[in-house]
Amino acid sequence: MNKKIKKILNKKNKSKIVSLTAYSKNIAKILDKYCDIVLVGDSVANVLYSFKNTHEIKLENIIQHTQSVRKGIKKSLLIVDMPKGTYKNKKLAKKNAKLIMKLTGCDGVKIESNKRNSNIIKELVKEKIPVMGHIGFTPQFKKNFMIEGTTQSGGKKLLNEAFQIEKAGAFSIVLECIAPNSSRLITKKLKIPTIGIGASSYCDGQILVTDDMLGLSGFYPKFVKKYVSLDRVIEKAVKKYTKEVKLKKFPKKINFLNGSKHRKKN
Ligand code: KIV
Repeated sequence: MNKKIKKILNKKNKSKIVSLTAYSKNIAKILDKYCDIVLVGDSVANVLYSFKNTHEIKLENIIQHTQSVRKGIKKSLLIVDMPKGTYKNKKLAKKNAKLIMKLTGCDGVKIESNKRNSNIIKELVKEKIPVMGHIGFTPQFKKNFMIEGTTQSGGKKLLNEAFQIEKAGAFSIVLECIAPNSSRLITKKLKIPTIGIGASSYCDGQILVTDDMLGLSGFYPKFVKKYVSLDRVIEKAVKKYTKEVKLKKFPKKINFLNGSKHRKKN
């Protein structure tokens, strides 16, 4: 088993799993210092491309973003969302997951549950492709955003779905927008770690969309905590630059005769 995955599994009931999304190298490099898991989420569709939903992101887009992210990752587990339609059946899922793994050097893929596709997970795991599951609000299959598992029977249904995914061989599972009682039950009953988003602190770990928590996306549902308003920080810098260009304060004279090193290599 991939050593990084083993490390994630070992955290269950010991320490919380920290996870965030990334779509490019410069952000990934910072996240890598702190995160156990970095996800190239199909949320890139909304966050960077302003698509109405995640359905429009193509396999090529996700691969390209992951190739960039890969360059910033040294130690975290790098997981890639398979876009909608790319894992419709076993054959397609196998072909596309292998392509993602080969072209990006990621550690595994995430697929959203439609309640009937745990056989796809089983097939990928058989091919030695690590898979993260995803239940609750699954934007690839559900139109309307709502909290799930608010009733006992709803919680039981989610638990059964989670069991199917665990049985199929997933190494972890995202719980998105699930009521605390249900996410607690699922986390307690599963052997694999649960990673919550809008699913309470009972989960074994947490994930957020990085652009949301940095205050860049403009999307702030109740469960998101904005840790900084980076939009304002960037605007301040751009404003200062604009002023200095206009006042001819930038650029300063540079003596190129004293060596010509342009940029420090990252
Ligand atoms: O696409 C994404 O960013 C995700 C997370 C919200 C878990 O699936």
